[in-house]
Amino acid sequence: MIQVAPSLLSADFTRLGDAVRMVNTSRASMIHIDVMDGMFVPNITIGFPVIKAIRDVAEKPLDVHMMVMDPGRYVSRVRDAGASIMNVHWEACTHLDRVIHTIRDAGMRPAVTLNPATPVMLLRDIISELDMVLLMSVNPGFGGQSFISNTLRKVRELRALIAEAGSDTVIEIDGGVNLTTAPELIKAGADVLVAGSYVFGAADPHKAISDLIDLG
Ligand code: DX5
Ligand code: ZN
Repeated sequence: MIQVAPSLLSADFTRLGDAVRMVNTSRASMIHIDVMDGMFVPNITIGFPVIKAIRDVAEKPLDVHMMVMDPGRYVSRVRDAGASIMNVHWEACTHLDRVIHTIRDAGMRPAVTLNPATPVMLLRDIISELDMVLLMSVNPGFGGQSFISNTLRKVRELRALIAEAGSDTVIEIDGGVNLTTAPELIKAGADVLVAGSYVFGAADPHKAISDLIDLG
């Protein structure tokens, strides 16, 4: 069963509540929220007050993708804002093991994100500690970019690494997901598809979410 996490980055920010309510009434499993600091990525998006406002309307778990340097600084604030999953970048953490344990101790599910150029094998010694791994299939920072097809090989490698570790870590993909790229991702072993512009650019976002799920 494939799961879909709509990314609010492509929603109409003047009507964010309506976007969250659309996700509430859809078949999506969670809501993906992109936090950017203007340092780790060349863009700045939303912060804690907005996550809290989303949480007040949301009826699905919040998957908070931290595109932020040294995200371990913000674990308790992300938790207090209402996140269920805290996604930190491998490239942004000097002491990843410590950050992962701090996230779990705070009551959230820890996830690690890899940039397109970061090899899957770097997770070998921590994979069994992770609830989810997010593979970026675009360079992080912006919605609406084209899918990097090398991601398919990384999904297969990650699937093998998880099997070897006997872990139940979930594989999430973020960037350029649509009806053209999703079938290969599902075949390669993806579990959760993040979709921003594909969902919020659709004439019928509910149907766009359903169409992705029905591929699985
Ligand atoms: C990009 C963000 C994504 C973004 C994906 O840095 O992490 O979540 O919203 O957008 P699409 O689905 O349009 O590629
Ligand atoms: Zn994201």
